[in-house]
Amino acid sequence: MRLVASRTALLALPLLAACQRGAVPATVTIIPTATTVATPAASGFGPRVQQLLAHMTLEEKIGQMTQLNISVINTTGVQKDVVLDSAKATALVRNFHIGSFLNGEAVPAAQWVRYSAALQRIALRESRLRIPIIYGIDHMHGASYVAGTAIFPHNINLGASFNPELARQTARATVLESADLGHHWVFAPVLDLGVNAYWPRFYETYGEDPLVASRMGAAFVRELQNNKEIAPYKVAGSGKHFLGYSDPRNGWDRTNALIPDQRLQEFFRPSFQAAIDAGLKSIMINSGEINGEPVHASRAILTDLLRDQMGFKGVAVTDWEDIIRLVRIQKVAANEKEATWMAIDAGVDMAMTPYTTTFCQYVKELVQEGRLTQARIDLSAGRVLQMKDEIGLFENPMPRADRLSRIGDPALRAQATAAARESVVLLKNDKNTLPLAPARVKRLLVVGPSAESRANLSGGWTLAWQGRPEAAYPKDVPTLVEALRKEFPGAKVETLPYRDAKGKMQLASISAAARQADAVVLALGERPYTEGLGNSSDLTLPDDQQQLTRAAQASGKPTVLLMIGGRPGIIRSVADATTAIIWAGLPGYGGGTALAEIISGKTNPSGKLPFTYPQFAGHISNYHHDNNKNSLDLSDFGAGFEQRGAKYKSSMLTEFGEGLSYTTYAYSGLTLSDTVLTGTAARLRATVRVANTGARAGQEAVLWFLTDEVGRITRPVRLLKHFEKQAYTAGQSRELTFDINPLTDLSYPDGLGRPQLEAGWFTLRVGSQSARFRYVGGAVAPGAAAPTGATGNATPTNRTPRPGTTSAEASPPK
Ligand code: BGC
Repeated sequence: MRLVASRTALLALPLLAACQRGAVPATVTIIPTATTVATPAASGFGPRVQQLLAHMTLEEKIGQMTQLNISVINTTGVQKDVVLDSAKATALVRNFHIGSFLNGEAVPAAQWVRYSAALQRIALRESRLRIPIIYGIDHMHGASYVAGTAIFPHNINLGASFNPELARQTARATVLESADLGHHWVFAPVLDLGVNAYWPRFYETYGEDPLVASRMGAAFVRELQNNKEIAPYKVAGSGKHFLGYSDPRNGWDRTNALIPDQRLQEFFRPSFQAAIDAGLKSIMINSGEINGEPVHASRAILTDLLRDQMGFKGVAVTDWEDIIRLVRIQKVAANEKEATWMAIDAGVDMAMTPYTTTFCQYVKELVQEGRLTQARIDLSAGRVLQMKDEIGLFENPMPRADRLSRIGDPALRAQATAAARESVVLLKNDKNTLPLAPARVKRLLVVGPSAESRANLSGGWTLAWQGRPEAAYPKDVPTLVEALRKEFPGAKVETLPYRDAKGKMQLASISAAARQADAVVLALGERPYTEGLGNSSDLTLPDDQQQLTRAAQASGKPTVLLMIGGRPGIIRSVADATTAIIWAGLPGYGGGTALAEIISGKTNPSGKLPFTYPQFAGHISNYHHDNNKNSLDLSDFGAGFEQRGAKYKSSMLTEFGEGLSYTTYAYSGLTLSDTVLTGTAARLRATVRVANTGARAGQEAVLWFLTDEVGRITRPVRLLKHFEKQAYTAGQSRELTFDINPLTDLSYPDGLGRPQLEAGWFTLRVGSQSARFRYVGGAVAPGAAAPTGATGNATPTNRTPRPGTTSAEASPPK
């Protein structure tokens, strides 16, 4: 009777109020462990899920909220072994109703099919209501945990391409090469912003710009979740890591980030919002803290922001062991049971525990004690079931082996190589050192740790979490040296180890060989890593690689420095004496070919930096930094104050959005359809002409930046608002347009996500061109959407135009 009464009471209560931290519904004291009736929370779900919830026991529901690692169900307990131990799996599904497992490493497709089929058979047999397992896997740049697949460039390289189509192709290859194997929940895309080059997961991001991350992420999600070629299967994505994970104060993984709410809204929210708007079915939560509050325990972030403001309806899964982390590391909960309550109360739906079932026990106790309501459990279990239902898992739970010939399709590999070609950035090219015309090169020396390394080109999350030993990579993936030999068939392309067997540097022999060569390629780089294992305290190029570079430079021969790796190493000390520099990032299996073709000139580079390349290890900055003044005008202070401080421009070696090409582009004739925008419904069309003025074809990403000249708060010096990449034949020109929408392009969110649209002057920049225009405010159009999906009205502040600028004007470049 008491239970029925409490259900009625809950019906009358807004659900979220019933779940507020500390709100213990006194009437709910007994929760049945047998079949129950669905609670009001279930009403938002489809009929199948409602039915299931109405018939599931509490334990069965909690099982749906639990995810365990492969190592607890395989034969050895070691993650890499994709061999099911049926007894272990049976016990876990039978006793704990576990609804999801994750992980593995790259094994042949047929082995994955055997494993997934055996696991799914157990799930369907042991689950009273025949609820299938959903399997989660870290396919981060292609189906990277399946042997023989196409390994695309990592996201930081895709960001450099400024071509969202490449993110779409990556998602397509991922599902084509893994959906048949039972991989129906892909833990991608990473939607974090690459704003701190120290962060060891920097390369997993699309770079530092929210618009680039939004467009790339949304393109990835749409293809991953809607691809029809994998029918009857469908795949769910997981945008990660919600949110603010990528900007830890000290640059180390899973440490505290200090991010004001306004900045969280303006910079870190849009990529997740775009993915949610594209239909993203799950998010994975940031393991770290923001302003001292662990995100896994943050109701403000996981419910108020994610659900209420951003409208997310899918599954929120913890990251690895992050409930127990609240106790052991973050120390905001006294014990695991308390941490479990905090996480679920904050908004977690599923725990990637991933080794223990203590979560199941604690959730049950919390419900029995009345600290978690049945409705709260239904909400989370229902979201998991809804995701399973939406991807058709109930109809098609079993993997299939009749299309395995799709895996390893040369066409997908060719796409990965094409993506690599677009994803590297030519940073410096003094005296047109590059391309090195094959006809004129007789001898090419290639030295450095990445010269013959497939692992270094691919980075972490390739074949295994931290990559694998060199010998484990497919031999048909060309190394840089192999690719250069193909590109320079008439030349002697040689490589020398720069250390002997005892680890001693071989600088004298490198210098001697360099003197004999026509040019030297320095293939610098770092071994694969991710997460805490990649923490770094110094971005400076390691000393041995600096010595190697100097030894090559001492020959006086042209040197081509390739920066291969997951973060921008500081190369200022060797950059001046290097004639050509290429940022290669982590271009994947096509990287050797792409770099060799760029060096030979077969491929014209078109990448642009998706982040600000730092000059100094101690100064990390972003292109969209706040307005500030970089140098002091000393004349006010009289004599005796010599200029001190950094003598290089700002903090950047090469700016965001820069990248050289073997052709040249001219921007001209920027015009605005008007110079005053009145009201949010008004649109202003900007038009510019872009011409390929060089002698060869290329691709140019055209980037449009806006500056809010005077803001109520200090605004970024500029922000990317639109970009478009296209091919241009030699001599070809195009007229490009950008339609400026006040709400999406001129406003910025406050700390609650409400758009602030202030009247005043704006500067638009594209290439060498700039123009000014004025927004004069006006009523917000009824039903106008907030630019970042927030609710609430824009609030024009009707600022007075700056003195002397009474009318709108277009001005020459400043
Ligand atoms: C990472 C996630 C990953 C998960 C499962 C975590 O340590 O942070 O990005 O999806 O492990 O492997």
